[in-house]
Amino acid sequence: MRPKDLKFPFSWEKRHPLISKGVLYVPEYYKNHDQFLMPPFEDASLFGNDQKVFIEFCSGNGEWIFNKALENPKINWIAVEMQFKRVRKIFSKRENAGLSNLFIVAGEALTFMRSYLKDDSCHAAYVNFPDPWPKDRHAKHRLIRESFALELGRILAPFGTAEFVTDDLTYAKQMMGVMAKLPIWSNVEKLPFDNYGTSFFERLWRQKGRVINHLKYSNQKNVN
Ligand SMILES: C[S@@+](CC[C@H](N)C(=O)[O-])C[C@H]1O[C@@H](n2cnc3c(N)ncnc32)[C@H](O)[C@@H]1O
Repeated sequence: MRPKDLKFPFSWEKRHPLISKGVLYVPEYYKNHDQFLMPPFEDASLFGNDQKVFIEFCSGNGEWIFNKALENPKINWIAVEMQFKRVRKIFSKRENAGLSNLFIVAGEALTFMRSYLKDDSCHAAYVNFPDPWPKDRHAKHRLIRESFALELGRILAPFGTAEFVTDDLTYAKQMMGVMAKLPIWSNVEKLPFDNYGTSFFERLWRQKGRVINHLKYSNQKNVN
């Protein structure tokens, strides 16, 4: 199985949410997301069991989450990536390894969370090297802002954890500011990267000598 073996399942004009071959397609510039009946995770079109679900946003070529899914078969993993050429790479890795605990979402992270995920449905979330949008005038495009942190708080179960990794200090400070403003999030002491896993961008920035910031939070909602 090669990445190009996964074909995009509909034309732009006929775009609609669809689950096919273990991939959920969340179309862009589409108004009726809420009309799609998202099956429960236990459904055979997703995981077919009720194991806990961990989710990674901005998965890129999927190296990090593929290895996590391989090493942790008792956890169900969701990779969310909006570039189809990268979705194909995740897909071929999964198919070649015969993994049944990795589901792929081809779509935008916030749209997927808002319209497709139920409250408390996931137990851990990760964002590894999200696009930093370093110029001030582009900062509005950064994924981790208040709207994202609020949705993440909704879809994660109480005590669920959120981990963000970035080489961009400005973005790391923005992440810390966003999470500190929302009372549901509490900062978790994080030891260095032991066994965290690696990714294309993690190696790239480490080789270039960049400092990697690793932030971890716990969801304190409904906790007295
Ligand atoms: C810098 S790459 C990091 C990829 C991977 N996590 C790694 O560490 O190698 C950022 C990835 O996030 C994806 N991305 C950016 N914004 C996104 C969004 N809002 N929803 C889903 N994916 C997004 C991009 O397409 C790109 O593949």
